[in-house]
Amino acid sequence: MNDTSWNDGDADADPLVSPLPQTAERDVETTLRPKDLHEFVGQPRVREQLELVLHGAMRRGAPPDHVLLSGPPGLGKTSLAMIIAAELGAAIRITSGPALERAGDLAAMLSNLVEGDVLFIDEIHRIARPAEEMLYLAMEDFRVDVVVGKGPGATSIPLDIAPFTLVGATTRSGALTGPLRDRFGFTAHMEFYTPGELELIVRRSADILGVDLRDDGAREIAGRSRGTPRIANRLLRRVRDFAEVRADGVVDLEIARAALAVYDVDELGLDRLDRAVLHALVRSFGGGPVGVSTLAVAVGEEPTTVEEVCEPYLVRAGMLARTPRGRVATAAAWAHLGLDAPDHAPGETAPTLFDDATG
Ligand SMILES: Nc1ncnc2c1ncn2[C@@H]1O[C@H](COP(=O)(O)OP(=O)(O)OP(=O)(O)O)[C@@H](O)[C@H]1O
Ligand SMILES: [Mg+2]
Repeated sequence: MNDTSWNDGDADADPLVSPLPQTAERDVETTLRPKDLHEFVGQPRVREQLELVLHGAMRRGAPPDHVLLSGPPGLGKTSLAMIIAAELGAAIRITSGPALERAGDLAAMLSNLVEGDVLFIDEIHRIARPAEEMLYLAMEDFRVDVVVGKGPGATSIPLDIAPFTLVGATTRSGALTGPLRDRFGFTAHMEFYTPGELELIVRRSADILGVDLRDDGAREIAGRSRGTPRIANRLLRRVRDFAEVRADGVVDLEIARAALAVYDVDELGLDRLDRAVLHALVRSFGGGPVGVSTLAVAVGEEPTTVEEVCEPYLVRAGMLARTPRGRVATAAAWAHLGLDAPDHAPGETAPTLFDDATG
């Protein structure tokens, strides 16, 4: 399986609009992270569902069911995992799928848990098979079987572990095995944020960072953030640089527009890779349908990057359709590139962005 991770820090990813965290950004992200459910903007359904799961468990005085957080990068999965622990007043232990290569690593982690702890496994779809199998038993029975010795003399010793809550995060819930998915009592599906929600997020960030952000500036940044809080916060910081170097530091509409033009972020917030994908689809393949691997080769990217970084937003924005025969450019994509759509292009009119909550 071709397994490119969001967090491998793709060198080719556009540092400005990539939904992947850049190395220098992690400290700022910590400062800007919402600390409780009330500070967490947007995702109303997820928030309501999660509140019920957590408060229900707290009333019973037992650890809540295991929680799976699923959605594209930069939408707040890690933030939410930390909020879950904070709401429960529990300690959080953090690890990731790729770090759990040997089952022994996971066994050590599990046996150190204290009752009520939250164990956060990021990128849980990348967990190695033996660790995954150990996790089944741990999640279900709070028990692990530790294998001692090798070959015919190997014995397995059952070990009790403290009741804990597993919070898994994944950008590819489809890559999770059925048995693992089934063991989560609640799955939160994170959606792209609406411009209104992103506006609240950038305003909050501006307050924390001490940026003089005007309403029209906030609206402009929010509208070009690809529905993604991480990108909204990043654009805010780049626009602030521009405002401080080229103007008086105030971020309004005019400054935001001028700054975003310098950074090559288009009106929809599409990045170079998004635009390259649309261009290839339209120019080289007549609008499709074309397979995702062919499309990826055409733009010189890994198929997983095209599939998981670009496509979710292009689909959400009504530019690209996934059909059984391959990817197809919609009329809106042709229009966005300033081209006339052929008659067979799906979607006569551009779908309105974020006009409903269900997507
Ligand atoms: N709902 C929100 N309200 C306010 N800020 C948010 C929200 N969600 C995310 N953010 C901001 O976006 C940044 C990225 O969020 P986070 O790291 O939680 O995303 P993620 O889903 O874990 O991404 P990845 O898949 O890359 O790990 C956070 O530092 C935070 O500042
Ligand atoms: Mg994360």
